[in-house]
Amino acid sequence: MSKIAIIGGGNLGAAIAKGLLKTTDIHPAQIYITRNKIERLDYLKQQGVVVSRDNVFAVKAAEIIILAVKPYKILEVLDEIAPHLEAHHILASVATGIRLSQIKSKLNAVLPVFRLMPNTAIEIQESITCLCAEDASKEHIEKIQILCNSLGESILIEEELMEAATVLGACGIAFVLRFIRAMMQAGIEIGFDALTATKIAEQTVKGAAELLKKGGKHPEEEIDKVTTPKGCTISGLNEMEHRGFSSSLIKGILNSFHKIEQ
Ligand SMILES: NC(=O)c1ccc[n+]([C@@H]2O[C@H](COP(=O)([O-])OP(=O)(O)OC[C@H]3O[C@@H](n4cnc5c(N)ncnc54)[C@H](OP(=O)(O)O)[C@@H]3O)[C@@H](O)[C@H]2O)c1
Repeated sequence: MSKIAIIGGGNLGAAIAKGLLKTTDIHPAQIYITRNKIERLDYLKQQGVVVSRDNVFAVKAAEIIILAVKPYKILEVLDEIAPHLEAHHILASVATGIRLSQIKSKLNAVLPVFRLMPNTAIEIQESITCLCAEDASKEHIEKIQILCNSLGESILIEEELMEAATVLGACGIAFVLRFIRAMMQAGIEIGFDALTATKIAEQTVKGAAELLKKGGKHPEEEIDKVTTPKGCTISGLNEMEHRGFSSSLIKGILNSFHKIEQ
């Protein structure tokens, strides 16, 4: 794999580095990561990652540049690094809401530019990363998809869907975690200690996802297998629906989407 510079080693940037460290495709010394408070990246430095405050140094050393600073800092960082970007560079931004055209407007030359929308499960190579690109050849796209696939799975989408991808995939992690927490709370109330309730909730969510991924069926087909007539599952499910389970989830996702569109 090419050398990678992660500009902005915060929550997501560091998660990308941690995920990369778990792949066998890249040597730690091929990963460069920057932030101002570099002491917070000591644990990555100890594993052989090159940690620096100097964005230009990281850009010059790498081929793939991942911009992982907050959206309001992206254009400022681009101003800093643009004079040092060359034909061999591939630029990828994970910033929410910053369009490809905004990134391109800061460049002095035509370069392959990507937007990536991973989630924090990238740290354990279980992200779903949606991506879109401009001025990228088939080979560039393949290269970035190989990188994303080494950290989970990826889907190439139109840029118009990037905000929807942010809500469903990146915010989605929080939605699912809140679901798991609610299962844990209920599990404790019906008799389990917190640790056991957590384990049951986690593995149940993982198992449900794997059933869909490996079986390729619609969720309702799997639900039909569990809902015995007059049984406790359908009784619980119907109570949840009477109280707005699916509706509140859909409304929450739409709310996040409207917020991101603003
Ligand atoms: N978190 C998520 O789940 C998620 C998911 C998808 C996309 N994103 C996107 O990822 C980006 C980062 O989000 P985050 O949650 O990781 O934010 P974050 O934790 O605040 O990380 C941003 C990092 O950028 C560093 N930074 C600030 N100015 C810099 C500069 N001039 N040069 C180099 N580094 C600089 C900061 O380091 P110092 O504190 O040391 O200044 C900070 O550690 C955002 O654009 C967000 O939209 C996040």
